[in-house]
Amino acid sequence: MSVNSPNKTLLGTCLLLALAAPVAAAPATGETLKDWPRVTSAITPDAAIEARVQQILAQMTLAQKIGQMTQPEIKTITPAQVRQYYIGSVLNGGGSWPGMDKHASVADWLALADAYRAASLATDAATPIPVIWGTDAVHGHNNVYGATLFPHNIGLGAAGDAALIERIGEATARATRATGIDWVFAPTLAVAHDPRWGRTYESFSSDPARVREYARAYVKGAQGRFGDDGNVVATAKHYIGDGATEQGRDQGEARVDKATMVNVHGQGYYGALGEGVQTVMASFNSWNDRSGRVDYGKMHGNKALLTDALKEKMGFDGFVVSDWNGIAQVPGCRNDSCAQAINAGIDMVMVPDDWKAFIANTTAQVERGEIPMARIDDAVTRILRVKLRAGLFDHAPSDSRYAGDASAVQHRALARRAVSESLVLLKNQGSALPLRRDARVMVVGKSADSLSDQAGGWSLTWQGTENTNADFPHADSVLGALRAELGTRQVTYSADAAGLDPAQFDVVVAVVGETPYAETNGDILASDSVSHSRAYPQDLAVLRAAQATGKPVVTVYFSGRPMYVNDLLNLSQAFVAAWLPGTEGRGISDVLVAGKDGTPAHDFRGRLSFPWPGVPCPAPIDQPDPTRPALFKLGYGLRYAAAGNVARLPEANPDNCGEVTTLPIFNRADTPPFSLHVAAGGATQPLGNDLNATLRWPATTPVVQVRTVQVNTQQDAKEVTWLAPAQLIARSTSRRNLAALARNHGALQFDVQLVQRPGSPVKVTMQCGTGCEGGVDIAPLLARRAPGQKQTVTVPLACFAKQGVDLGAVEAPFVVTADKPFAAAFTQVRVSVDADKAEGAVTCP
Ligand code: BGC
Ligand code: BGC
Repeated sequence: MSVNSPNKTLLGTCLLLALAAPVAAAPATGETLKDWPRVTSAITPDAAIEARVQQILAQMTLAQKIGQMTQPEIKTITPAQVRQYYIGSVLNGGGSWPGMDKHASVADWLALADAYRAASLATDAATPIPVIWGTDAVHGHNNVYGATLFPHNIGLGAAGDAALIERIGEATARATRATGIDWVFAPTLAVAHDPRWGRTYESFSSDPARVREYARAYVKGAQGRFGDDGNVVATAKHYIGDGATEQGRDQGEARVDKATMVNVHGQGYYGALGEGVQTVMASFNSWNDRSGRVDYGKMHGNKALLTDALKEKMGFDGFVVSDWNGIAQVPGCRNDSCAQAINAGIDMVMVPDDWKAFIANTTAQVERGEIPMARIDDAVTRILRVKLRAGLFDHAPSDSRYAGDASAVQHRALARRAVSESLVLLKNQGSALPLRRDARVMVVGKSADSLSDQAGGWSLTWQGTENTNADFPHADSVLGALRAELGTRQVTYSADAAGLDPAQFDVVVAVVGETPYAETNGDILASDSVSHSRAYPQDLAVLRAAQATGKPVVTVYFSGRPMYVNDLLNLSQAFVAAWLPGTEGRGISDVLVAGKDGTPAHDFRGRLSFPWPGVPCPAPIDQPDPTRPALFKLGYGLRYAAAGNVARLPEANPDNCGEVTTLPIFNRADTPPFSLHVAAGGATQPLGNDLNATLRWPATTPVVQVRTVQVNTQQDAKEVTWLAPAQLIARSTSRRNLAALARNHGALQFDVQLVQRPGSPVKVTMQCGTGCEGGVDIAPLLARRAPGQKQTVTVPLACFAKQGVDLGAVEAPFVVTADKPFAAAFTQVRVSVDADKAEGAVTCP
């Protein structure tokens, strides 16, 4: 299953081998396993450390143990609270910086790390335990202003260079230690099988062998077995099957059999665990092995996988951290309460906001015997073991030769090399490339001078949006790189390629691509095509204008995944897949521009780490469909010497791939990723599985009350009583793209049964980020029914768009706001297709 045997399908090969192979005690690369293998870690148990752990543990109170297992987000916890609650860990989420300052300096980060550590050591515990700070350094230390951003993993996968990955792991670790942080939530070991997934770019490859090889290399570079003051703790994530979900839905359901989970999605873990990775992050997805008739449910509640497979069978002796509010997705759990997850084997809980309630609830659960003390002791043992191994008791954040050194977050030469190695040449007709050094170059396209597009998600902010080039002080865009290489006189730029005069230039370089996204927000719905031009018609228009000049067109394409680009390929003489390269545009000009003698200065090295689709509605990678073959197979990539023509490709541009279906939001219970909340004044409260809830604001005044009642079937509805201005909100942790639903005549619909007539407007809105909200007043509709009567309310998505809602990025698709007393029961909240003309639909204002 190497990159060089692209014809074999992963699944097919694994299944065939699975029938023949014996049970393995230790996994050799390429060996086929029937069960989770034993993995021997490069970091072996140390008797002195184990004795120390037990000695510390024996002195700890329950409060200290539970604090040790709790990981709040830096926005919600002060150093004083770290001390007071014996907190074991903090994290900064994507786009969270010291003092909420995007431009916080390396010194600011270090100062905060030192403050947290000092606070953790100032407790009244018999042996105070240093706090560990974790961060998403997923392509370099990407939350830090001024840090070098490496190519996202998909590009590194194309480079096919494990030694390079080790260097990048090492450099990222040093950058992280420069800011006083000791733990990175990397590497992601997903084997993505459907590029519709918004996290495809976090996956090195669809080839599990490559993921495994890189897992080992990255962990080796980053952790370095803790021999150096530039090392950090690494995380293998997201365990397990994050890349296997149906239709590439983020946080969705993996429907694969055990042979596939063990032999494909497990491979990265064998590499990482073998090298001694000290933490594993649980995944948001669930796993339903239909062939084995086992529905394992959500990973966060899955003892068979977290404890039996990972800790017992594979022998992992580090700790498992949960993902961001991931525990709440376990049935019966909430953000602040989940005995099930701890019992299943989560050792440290990422509870960004609700950590105080979590500590109280977990304490009560231990006291009531719902979580055995032995489980708590095991979790704390694991956390202490990792802290001791990583030397946290011995060094403060500032005790590293990198600490506070702003230049230590920059690794520009290494990243530049990584970029040049990651580029995959898909087409080069008539030697459009390399660019001659005396060529007059017309640069076009929205992404040519956009460091945001070049960096993608997880870049200073979580989504990688809301940045300008000024937010990346040490970086070169492709435009900047070409100007640096050829001189500004020879390079002209027109973003939209309007009115080009072919007499003025010899060649066009078009830089186009996806705009940034992260996680669920990047998902392409199964009903949408993966055509780039569907999502970005302006890029198609630019290439058409470029081609119309009659000059050769060289396209540099930024994307987090292979997309359907037949139309763009046809408009280009040369086409380079550049992935999400990060800050170092010079890595692109290095390969594009010829040497002095006109021959290539650097050859292309990259080969596809994922197959490239040739149709707008491709089959998942692991279920190849001969009627929809890949255009370029895994491992494809031209060299200058072998560069050739690509015949004109067929073009098809359907917007939809099959039926667009209903998006459920609430029906009896929360439908992930949405969850119902009530909010008033400064307080927000998730309803979770509570049957009755009251929100008070300020602390003692009840403003909104919720009861569980029947509207259609037993206990299917929430009856909400407004006593004062308040809101009922269904929201998701990430933004949803409702555009396809809108194109298909989608409407927000819900059933409502009036209890008490409203004394003010009742606004139904959608929210799409700070300051982005719009909707309609349904009070007139409600007035048509008597209390006790039920009706279905329909608000066309078009109405929300008309009221300023960005349907491409909806955070809260259902918000009900009233200012005066009012009561009604709500259920069956959904966005339905072909519903905007339903009887009684609201007419847009
Ligand atoms: C992501 C993780 C990340 C965590 C902390 C989650 O939403 O799934 O990959 O490490 O947030 O930012
Ligand atoms: C955080 C991310 C996190 C995400 C989870 C965001 O607010 O910044 O780090 O992964 O929430 O949904």
